[in-house]
Amino acid sequence: MKYELINLNDESINFFNKFGKDHALLSASVDGKCNGMTVGWGGAGVMWRKNVFFCVVRPQRYTFEFCEKTDIVTLSFFDSDKSDVLKICGSKSGRDCDKFALAGITPVIGENGEVDFEESRMTLVGKKLYAQEMREECFIDKECDKVWYPEKDYHILYVYEIIEARRK
Ligand SMILES: Cc1cc2nc3c(=O)[nH]c(=O)nc-3n(C[C@H](O)[C@H](O)[C@H](O)COP(=O)(O)O)c2cc1C
Repeated sequence: MKYELINLNDESINFFNKFGKDHALLSASVDGKCNGMTVGWGGAGVMWRKNVFFCVVRPQRYTFEFCEKTDIVTLSFFDSDKSDVLKICGSKSGRDCDKFALAGITPVIGENGEVDFEESRMTLVGKKLYAQEMREECFIDKECDKVWYPEKDYHILYVYEIIEARRK
């Protein structure tokens, strides 16, 4: 798989749109088995003097098990004509099917266990720095809690250092 490494400090990428409009695929592998899911919430910025991205994963996701078991994940972005990929990966669970095959994308596991895709336009490789489950009592705005967590299935927040940024 061919890609070029990019320096995110030299790029002008709108991560508001990348997450909120286009969406991304959060993927990981454990013992050669991989899974991924569509994420629409998250962001990129600077923490602890490092370039980071953060994602939030509900505990019932199969991908959650991967995020807990490995410290390396990837965040992959696709061209707009591949929006079906993110629809499929955001509606099917890897517990029940081979969703990458269904979505017509080809995972390539790298030497650090990172999952990239032949078809992605850009992939960020992340190394886990921080993980914390959201808690009811921490919501200052109780409306967010009420609207988004009626089942009390609080997201786990993960902050990852961006250790590589690849463009195809
Ligand atoms: C547009 C979109 C955005 C999503 N964003 C998130 C997210 O940020 N966090 C999350 O836990 N689930 C999110 N989901 C839901 C998961 O992608 C979905 O439940 C997926 O099927 C989980 O797959 P898995 O069980 O293989 O992990 C999103 C779904 C869609 C369609």
